[in-house]
Amino acid sequence: MGLHLRIIIATVLLAVSLAGAQTSPIVDLGYAQYQGVVNPANNITHFLGIRYAAAPLGDLRFRGAATAGQHDRCTAGHERAQCLQGTSGTSPTNPFETRATEDIPAEDCLFLNVYYPSNAVGAPRSKLPTLVWIHGGGYVSGAASGYDEEDIINQSARGVVVVSIQYRLGVFGKPAIFFPRFFGSSRWVQLQGKASFLAFEIHIEYIKYNSCTSATDPMSCLRAVDANTLRAVNTNITAAPFFGTFVMVPVVDGVFIQQRPTLSLAEGKVNGEALLSVANSFEGTIFVNQNVAITAAQYSLELFPGFGTDQADIVSAMYANDGDELFQVNAVQGESIFICPTYYLLNAFPGRSFKGEFAIPPGLHGEDIAYYFPGGVAPPFNNPAFIDAFAQSFTSFIVNQDPNLKVDPTTITPHWNAFDNLYTEMLFNKTADNEPVVQPIFASGDLLERCAVWDSMGIFTSQ
Ligand SMILES: *[C@@H]1O[C@H](CO)[C@@H](O)[C@H](O)[C@H]1NC(C)=O
Ligand SMILES: *[C@@H]1O[C@H](CO)[C@@H](O)[C@H](O)[C@H]1NC(C)=O
Ligand SMILES: *[C@@H]1O[C@H](CO)[C@@H](O)[C@H](O)[C@H]1NC(C)=O
Ligand SMILES: *[C@@H]1O[C@H](CO)[C@@H](O)[C@H](O)[C@H]1NC(C)=O
Repeated sequence: MGLHLRIIIATVLLAVSLAGAQTSPIVDLGYAQYQGVVNPANNITHFLGIRYAAAPLGDLRFRGAATAGQHDRCTAGHERAQCLQGTSGTSPTNPFETRATEDIPAEDCLFLNVYYPSNAVGAPRSKLPTLVWIHGGGYVSGAASGYDEEDIINQSARGVVVVSIQYRLGVFGKPAIFFPRFFGSSRWVQLQGKASFLAFEIHIEYIKYNSCTSATDPMSCLRAVDANTLRAVNTNITAAPFFGTFVMVPVVDGVFIQQRPTLSLAEGKVNGEALLSVANSFEGTIFVNQNVAITAAQYSLELFPGFGTDQADIVSAMYANDGDELFQVNAVQGESIFICPTYYLLNAFPGRSFKGEFAIPPGLHGEDIAYYFPGGVAPPFNNPAFIDAFAQSFTSFIVNQDPNLKVDPTTITPHWNAFDNLYTEMLFNKTADNEPVVQPIFASGDLLERCAVWDSMGIFTSQ
């Protein structure tokens, strides 16, 4: 999908720049024309619900995205259906539940949205940096709706184009290659660690789906299954795994993903130019059942099916002095899955990576997002100086690949060292008296040591 999408985005932007300053500009994508809509309140142009690939229906189900067919001119004034949703484990709250949307989820969901400032301040600019926003949701849930891309344009001083994309989720997003039983291949047994575990789980669930198991061509049978039925299967498959885990995450399959990402990062195999990476203080908490007593060692055995007692003992020793049992388990989840991988990423961009910590209490996973999109529902810490500092570190990075080259020089963010300069991070927090705290801190040495241990166990975590 990546290349295809990039080409389409380039086409959209080219067409838009040629279209000039029309009030309702039209882009011609070759297979269709879309008519954009200008928001008169701020002169931001929207192209919403652009079909970037053929509807993945019928025979195109479980296949790679196909080129969209010809269709008539559309008004691109509203977002289109979100993809069919699954869930994470058996969590009592879904952290990725999207905010209110009029869009009913549907299998036909391969749409993107483009937003751009129609009259950039100062000299007209034909080319602006582009942010591609890829929604979260563990590959089983989420949608492009629910984020107000206008906020990013506003916080960039009208200096960026924003594209938000959708992608198929859950079983709908798994190509045929992941269903070896139906694909006539036993390749799944060659997969490593978690990969084989996950492929196996999916395989078993599909066997349980009896009406297609006995078919001569099971994939064709599955392509003909009513989407609502498949949706129920998807719900069962995504809800089945351990609490707070996501069964559809990408895995090393030896073909599309050939190497564990931590190895690629350690070898510096990255395409990017620079990195801004922000982690929240307590990333793990919402993915841990807070009502179940479990030791850090037991928890690590559940979280990582490739673990044995040797690895669990290492985890136990590493967190033994780190608060009570629940605090330890939350830390195991947050550090192994989110926080340590952030440092592995940073290390892959020496001199070009910047690290932030979002710590506004309670500092849980996803709580930072409201501060990138502050224009609608006000974020919990509704302090303009803080919001501008936080949001504009992001937009300044989009524009200049360096949060020190600010889109608005008046924000309260002080000089931000690259991460490998003394392991400096920028802390985004507030005092108990609700004063913003935006200041450099040093990464915790203890944390970096734990991350090195997690890295050394990567063969067992499949990271
Ligand atoms: C939008 O652009 C038009 C034409 O340049 C201008 O007259 C108008 O004041 C702008 N409106 C806003 C809200 O910026
Ligand atoms: C964002 O929009 C508000 C008005 O809606 C404006 O006061 C503010 O200056 C804008 N911020 C930026 C960075 O453009
Ligand atoms: C989903 O799981 C429930 C409970 O185990 C079962 O009754 C139902 O048949 C399953 N649905 C599908 C479509 O597999
Ligand atoms: C953030 O500030 C709160 C007080 O408002 C404090 O309890 C917490 O420890 C701070 N977090 C960090 C990472 O400094």
